[in-house]
Amino acid sequence: MASLMLSGTEKLTLRTLNGKGLCDLQGKSLFPRVANSRIRVPNRVAPKFSVSASRPTSQPRFFQHKKEAFWFYRFVSDVYDHVLNPGHWTEDMRDEALEPADLSDRNMIVVDVGGGTGFATLGVVKHVDAKNVTILDQSPHQLAKAKQKEPLKDCKIVQGDAEDLPFRTDYADRYVSAGSIEYWPDPQRGIKEAYRVLKLGGKACIIGPVYPTFWLSRFFADVMMLFPKEEEYIEWFQKAGFKDVQLKRIGPKWYRGVRRHGLIMGCSVTGVKPASGDSPLQLGPKEEDVEKPVNPFVFLMRFLLGVMAGTWYVLVPIYMWLKDQVVPEGQPI
Ligand SMILES: C[S@@+](CC[C@H](N)C(=O)[O-])C[C@H]1O[C@@H](n2cnc3c(N)ncnc32)[C@H](O)[C@@H]1O
Repeated sequence: MASLMLSGTEKLTLRTLNGKGLCDLQGKSLFPRVANSRIRVPNRVAPKFSVSASRPTSQPRFFQHKKEAFWFYRFVSDVYDHVLNPGHWTEDMRDEALEPADLSDRNMIVVDVGGGTGFATLGVVKHVDAKNVTILDQSPHQLAKAKQKEPLKDCKIVQGDAEDLPFRTDYADRYVSAGSIEYWPDPQRGIKEAYRVLKLGGKACIIGPVYPTFWLSRFFADVMMLFPKEEEYIEWFQKAGFKDVQLKRIGPKWYRGVRRHGLIMGCSVTGVKPASGDSPLQLGPKEEDVEKPVNPFVFLMRFLLGVMAGTWYVLVPIYMWLKDQVVPEGQPI
């Protein structure tokens, strides 16, 4: 059973059909409009059934690689909090996205995977004692920024890989990851790891992008990194073994609910671990071997093309913000 939560209040319950797809419990039309809302609700969030852990490797997404992610954040960590983040990831959005994580007890053990400069962690430590929180990231440069933040000074800071977490099985009460899944070469493996490290009854909360429907945005998204479809998140969670999987849509206020360009932070997906131990899902070896040497020319080209595609996603929030300023309230943008 999975749910799609809209604006935190409207809720559409979805179920799996023959283990192959999702539709609403009443089996109603596939793309209804929410009354008094410009949000278009994908009533059937799962697919014809293409999505699977195999999608990530099938396209040349230039940043969906660990080496590229390392070098990207080597340069970007200095401007991440003040220049890159504000366009698509605000404090309001963060608090709304973390709400389904149900951070209800200050003594909870929490891991923030792909925690970077600690922007999402600052939301976590409002509810949980910092000494119980671990920030894990592959980038030492991002982590160095997190270390400088006063509210995070008691957090444990660990360099590591989301697809191979250095935590024991059944370790944490909550697993949080914001804006990182799009870089993982094998997101299904990362979600399987989330399942493993959680305790029985523990909750995972993955905040991430959503796939655009406008053709040009879709092109740049596909070139840059993985923008999962909502149904893919749900499928990955369910395959990993999570129960009570829910998806809540988020977005900057000035987008007025527009999702056609996709969003770097577009949804918060949660699931509960129903049994202790490892995930029931079996996977083969990891996709990307970071130790393997790469051709420096190929790497540079990939990196530059990724940066060019990423520029689109710096411009889109500015464009949406300008539209929000000029289009009268109540009219579609
Ligand atoms: C967009 S930032 C998000 C940072 C932070 N969670 C926030 O809310 O601002 C993405 C982070 O994911 C990290 N990352 C990418 N791939 C990773 C991996 N395989 N394992 C761990 N961290 C990863 C990057 O280094 C980067 O710091």
